[in-house]
Amino acid sequence: MEILVTGGAGYIGSHTCLELLREGYDVVVIDNLSNSHKIALDRVEKLAEKTITFYEADVMDKAALENIFTNHHIQAVIHFAGLKAVGESVEKPLSYYKNNLISSLVLFEVMQQYAVKKLVFSSSATVYGVPENTPITEEAPRATTNPYGATKLIIEQMLEDIAASDSSWQISLLRYFNPIGADISGLIGEDPNGIPNNLMPYITQVAAGRLEEVNVYGQDYETHDGTGIRDYIHVVDLAKGHLKALQYSYYGVEAFNLGTGIGSSVLDVISTFEKATGTQIKHKIVNRRPGDVAKCYADSSKAQKLLGWTAEKTLYNMCKDSWEWQSRNPNGYLK
Ligand code: NAD
Ligand code: UFG
Repeated sequence: MEILVTGGAGYIGSHTCLELLREGYDVVVIDNLSNSHKIALDRVEKLAEKTITFYEADVMDKAALENIFTNHHIQAVIHFAGLKAVGESVEKPLSYYKNNLISSLVLFEVMQQYAVKKLVFSSSATVYGVPENTPITEEAPRATTNPYGATKLIIEQMLEDIAASDSSWQISLLRYFNPIGADISGLIGEDPNGIPNNLMPYITQVAAGRLEEVNVYGQDYETHDGTGIRDYIHVVDLAKGHLKALQYSYYGVEAFNLGTGIGSSVLDVISTFEKATGTQIKHKIVNRRPGDVAKCYADSSKAQKLLGWTAEKTLYNMCKDSWEWQSRNPNGYLK
């Protein structure tokens, strides 16, 4: 079965390609490498001992997509391609609306044209905005607080309208919580450009000596230790959730939260990382980061019930595997 993976060279995409190959799928990737390196796919091929067909192209390029759908018997699409940095989206909203919305629009048009109507879409817990209650269920109200989140929300709405207009579509909206970790080999992992915005790559770069100390954004939240709580999920568990969504047989559109259901504070993550890796993470408390919420964690019981999926790896595993990747590749893929 041939699967098209958009953005397959990226962090979550590369881990998903590996799981797909291991499960016997044929994988075709389209990626413009705007935030990734081809070497990630070379390493996936090496780990799986199988090959990937790679197209270096932009998903906004309709002719490139038509060429792929003409040359391959694509049966389903997993759509990861997109820009994902919240802060950058506030500074460059037009780039985010253009890249994320136009690429999705062109992709869905071409899928319709070639009657390929099974889609797994990378959405995000960001569509819940500032959650009223935790754990968050899929029925929680949707709202956005930044242009990146707005693109996810608009694409979800676009897909709901497509499914309403044509009942032969099968669409999963996977709302990820906080993906961290790496394949246990340490050969593929997250390789952010510049200084990381997210907690785990920041911690690993402090551990590697690239950054001096972690700034803990606020210790005055209403949480057990005052620092912000998130639902960290191992990227390999997340990747496996995509395979479950591909195998799920239904018509229409369904949203699924992919998280562990366990909330961990910033200080919990730092202390677990220290235990898992034997390193010391220098850190200091600073002011809250604007826009952050106190608590965000998932109720993932719908994914368990309908997809038969649950996250298996612990925060300890996530920290250990993140560090394995960072320590084996101190400067990321290319440097
Ligand atoms: P990533 O940046 O590592 O991967 C995205 C990939 O898409 C990159 O390889 C990039 O080169 C490619 N790409 C971007 N625009 C493209 C275009 N127009 N045409 C072709 N390729 C394009 O990001 P990731 O962390 O792997 O995230 C994958 C998806 O999951 C994204 O849609 C992101 O919004 C979503 N998501 C990520 C997180 C997270 O914390 N990592 C959380 C929730 C949702
Ligand atoms: N944090 C720090 N110091 C840092 C970085 C983060 O204390 O240097 C704290 C944050 O305040 C927050 C927690 O660590 O309490 C997690 O922050 P991240 O930046 O790692 O993740 P967010 O929850 O802010 O956002 C992530 C993605 C978004 C996505 C969201 C929900 O970056 O794209 O999860 O899926 F929308």
